[in-house]
Amino acid sequence: MSRVKTLGQFIIEKQADFPYSKGELSRLLRDIGIAAKIVNREVNKAGLADILGDAGEMNVQGENVKKLDVFANNQFIAALSVGGECCAIASEENEDIIIVNNEMSKNAKYVVAIDPLDGSSNIDVNVSVGTIFSIYRRTSLSGPGTQEDFFQRGTEQVAAGYVIYGSSCMMVYTTGRGVNGFTLDPSIGEFCLSHPNMQTPKIAHTYSINEGNYVHFPDGVKKYIKYCQEEDDSTSRPYSSRYIGSCVADVHRNLITGGIYIYPTTFKSPKGKLRILYEGNPLAFIIEQAGGKATDGFHRILDMDIKELHQRTPLFIGSADMVDIACSYMLKYSTVDA
Ligand code: AHG
Ligand code: MN
Ligand code: MN
Repeated sequence: MSRVKTLGQFIIEKQADFPYSKGELSRLLRDIGIAAKIVNREVNKAGLADILGDAGEMNVQGENVKKLDVFANNQFIAALSVGGECCAIASEENEDIIIVNNEMSKNAKYVVAIDPLDGSSNIDVNVSVGTIFSIYRRTSLSGPGTQEDFFQRGTEQVAAGYVIYGSSCMMVYTTGRGVNGFTLDPSIGEFCLSHPNMQTPKIAHTYSINEGNYVHFPDGVKKYIKYCQEEDDSTSRPYSSRYIGSCVADVHRNLITGGIYIYPTTFKSPKGKLRILYEGNPLAFIIEQAGGKATDGFHRILDMDIKELHQRTPLFIGSADMVDIACSYMLKYSTVDA
């Protein structure tokens, strides 16, 4: 019998790396894994059950909310609320933080920021979507969690990860000691270690960006795209373009095969579209741990100050050499605000 290692076994083994830990982080990761399995079950039958389509509301960011956004949000909030390890949650789908107000949780150590369903525009068309999460140690000393507990730089993340509901369901996470990927084996209902110690290629040949917004891109991005499209044998250009439209899936593909994902400022999103707390920071933590880089075109994502829960950022993330070259074009042709 081949020896599989489940997510649960892996988490327990890794807990030994932190001799004074009481296991709260391990339990939090386990709870996220359970909620992910429930969401995956629902995604898998999305065409059959009444779960496709709009929920008929707009979220705080003026975006159309899908039924699956609501379902995933409820599942993750429920999972994070029962365990007693998390005292507050910041979700894309909720304007304010959710204070986990039960006896067990109110003095809990951790806060969790989450994008419960990333890639909402792909839900109805059977294309990969995901969940992204980021875990911080609270900064307030005790009592209910506060908004300020979330206003920490990405470098302070204790753990971050994502789940992809794709042709298979995968969970990828880091606690700052490398990145590991687990694939759900539906026959036993367990995430099994399938991608140990993930490293992203330093040099790569794929760029991912919504080129439909080209006219509104900063000059640095326009020039970089042209650079990607030029012919040059020594650097294997032109590069391939791949854009799924779920950043979790685009970043996951690039993590494995190498590449850069860019969501720059645009006319519609002058500060960028992606949110730093539950998209930028967790993805940046993972990609850096896998040997890649993440910036806003000028500065490292993980060093950014957070002043708002739903703060947006431009994102340039992926293989180190590609991000370096893209940023050199930004420095040459763009300013921080354009
Ligand atoms: P969400 O579904 O959580 O709102 O995130 C959508 C984000 C991201 O996942 C994706 O890469 C990007 O929006 C796609 O935006 P465009 O449709 O503008 O390309
Ligand atoms: Mn998202
Ligand atoms: Mn979302």
